[in-house]
Amino acid sequence: MPSVTNIAVLASGRGSNLQAIIDSIESGYLKAQITVVISDVGDAYALERARKHGIEAVFIDTKRFSSRELYEKEALRVLRKHDAELVLLAGYMRVVGRTLLDAYKNRMLNIHPALLPAFPGLHAQKQAFDHGVKVAGCTVHFVDDKLDGGPIILQRCVEVAEDDTTETLADRILEQEHKIYPEAVKLFVENRLRIEGRKVKIIKS
Ligand code: GRF
Repeated sequence: MPSVTNIAVLASGRGSNLQAIIDSIESGYLKAQITVVISDVGDAYALERARKHGIEAVFIDTKRFSSRELYEKEALRVLRKHDAELVLLAGYMRVVGRTLLDAYKNRMLNIHPALLPAFPGLHAQKQAFDHGVKVAGCTVHFVDDKLDGGPIILQRCVEVAEDDTTETLADRILEQEHKIYPEAVKLFVENRLRIEGRKVKIIKS
């Protein structure tokens, strides 16, 4: 049996990107398994989605820890316990600190609902819409110590329509997120990504 990559997902909310990854695994598109889903929010729907698919779901209450370092040490203990090789941030609403960045250097990905480096941070779709962009989109990137700033793996464009609202635009961006996140994870698990400075080279299959 060929071995599959063990993935951990960190999510704080509804977990639709987590669901896209679960679906891609269950359909056979992704040769990987999710060994744990961790959330910093006790009632995050992402945890419920994980349980529905028989995936271990762990809530880590930040209030139990006096610093980000101690909280992340606990997260790292859980990740190691579940042999996580790749960590996916999927609507994880915390800035990742040194402890996790060092442990998962070049092995942690994030999805962001804008065409980075434009509109990093919160409410990216609204930032883009309010700015009056004609083309919006989403980005999957490696996570480093800069907010939404790591090397870019994949991006997808979404045209802004005359009658769009922030919500309708965000919905169409989300549809594309659900496509490019599994695509990027597939490239990672097939060992087809090479980071060269700011650039990520994609090796042809
Ligand atoms: C997505 O828009 C993602 O790009 C951003 O947070 C949102 C999470 O949505 N980082 P979901 O929890 O995956 O549905």
